[in-house]
Amino acid sequence: MELRDVILPIEIVVCLLVTWPLVRQLAFEPFRYKLPCKAAQRIALLIGYFAFIAAVAVFAPVLLHFGAVLALGILLYERWRARPSYGRGSGLPPGSLGVVPRNHERDPYHFEKLIAKYGPIFKFNVEFHPYIYIASHKRALKFLRENDDVLIGAAQPISAGIPKGFVRYMPAQTHTKYRRILLSGISTDVIDDASPMILSAVRAKLLQICEEGCRPANGGVLIDDNLRELIFPIVLAVFFGVRPDTPQFDQIESFFADIDTRRETCGIEDRRIRAMNGMSDWIRARIDEFAKDPDAAPSCFLKSLADRQDAAALDATVRGNWVAMVEFATVDIIGLLQWLVKMLIDYPEWAERLRQEQGAHGDAPDWGEDSLAGRIVKETLRLERSEFLTRKSTKDVWFEGYRIPKDWSIRIGIRENNRDPETFDRPTEFDPDRFLGKEYSLEEYAPFGLFRHNCIGAAFASTVGRIFVTELGTGFDIQPNGEWTTQYVPPHWRPRAGFRLGLKARAA
Ligand code: HEM
Repeated sequence: MELRDVILPIEIVVCLLVTWPLVRQLAFEPFRYKLPCKAAQRIALLIGYFAFIAAVAVFAPVLLHFGAVLALGILLYERWRARPSYGRGSGLPPGSLGVVPRNHERDPYHFEKLIAKYGPIFKFNVEFHPYIYIASHKRALKFLRENDDVLIGAAQPISAGIPKGFVRYMPAQTHTKYRRILLSGISTDVIDDASPMILSAVRAKLLQICEEGCRPANGGVLIDDNLRELIFPIVLAVFFGVRPDTPQFDQIESFFADIDTRRETCGIEDRRIRAMNGMSDWIRARIDEFAKDPDAAPSCFLKSLADRQDAAALDATVRGNWVAMVEFATVDIIGLLQWLVKMLIDYPEWAERLRQEQGAHGDAPDWGEDSLAGRIVKETLRLERSEFLTRKSTKDVWFEGYRIPKDWSIRIGIRENNRDPETFDRPTEFDPDRFLGKEYSLEEYAPFGLFRHNCIGAAFASTVGRIFVTELGTGFDIQPNGEWTTQYVPPHWRPRAGFRLGLKARAA
């Protein structure tokens, strides 16, 4: 055998090894599901690259010497950057910038392990992009306050459909004005007015699931589809005063089918912008309707907004943000409800407690913030769903002796901080009673965010969650079809998609 016959396969392997991070990412099903277009582009890239290497190996093997040297250089550079001490001389914190492995997608406790390994500030990599992680709410609050003027959110695609972007990603200069306007519409009176409607919608949906006779033996019903059918109409009623079975509802639903942030399918950007513009025009017309006959206008967030702001203030940025809020409200509340169902399945003793305590209230269930339902919602949010905040700095900043480079992303760990053993006894245990008679400060518990961009929909989300968990826990026996495991679908951990369950109404 000639030396060439030994070297050629080695060179091919080295050239192929550089594709390992892409192959590993494409093997990850949630990535293909969430970003099908990006996945298709990357598969095409890989196939093209493999074909190219094969062609070079057959027709110009000498070129593989250069290719292999280059590939080896890339692999060594990746490992060199992966050293935890990389960049220490220039002030970077410890931590690996290695592109592989991507353990945050596979291990829900990944960041807790990194905190234990590197301390509260460290660097890591996601998707070839460097991040700085900051642990502890107290430290994160200090960081956000000290650097308020240079921090921006890491904008998501929906921002492209709004002239000045989605409020969550705005810099301080524009954020203060737009947050104030938007917040003026999110009225607690509207939420209180809507509570009976939310209750009857929840009750009707749960009964419908029961009536479908969906015992686990029959496979049960798909929980995700049912939660969307429940929550989207509630959100439209609360934001716009629009009820199902009206032409307006159908029109809005078709706009939101194109806005959908759950999957970034090919060509969605253009469809989304068109739909957001369509919704923005619809909102303007709706506000005009309210102005013509204020007394006939239904109680809703948009009516509150129109009552409290001049028409001139409700520009395309406010209207675009209103549309984005409807989308995120729907997605976020569904996310919370998925976890609430899972918690009642995993901890049936709390469903039993709920039944006993609500039994004492007769026909007037108590779903106040301090009720057991309220504590179940708080404890669910402490452990799940709310995971992190992301920021970018517009210039290099120093914090606690470390340099945070311009344009790197900054991840503030909400999930890990909400499980801080210094604040919470038995931090990973599901114990709603830890909220009994106890208020935690923002430095201890912050599922709805910290400082400037904290959630403006917290009261609404929590109300829906409390009503839902009360109805489900007290009125029904949950019949899960097998074990409900979890999965990472960027950017959240969630109970696994495609899960089916049955419900059985309890005798009154
Ligand atoms: C359980 C459900 C929800 C959770 C866990 C949640 C969580 C959060 C968190 C952690 C933030 C802070 C983001 C940051 O600082 O980067 C946030 C911001 C925000 N949330 Fe929520 N949210 C939920 C529901 C809602 C709902 C129902 C609405 C709409 C009514 C909403 C609207 C917003 C908006 C507009 C912001 C940005 C505020 C600003 O930048 O000033 N959220 N949310």
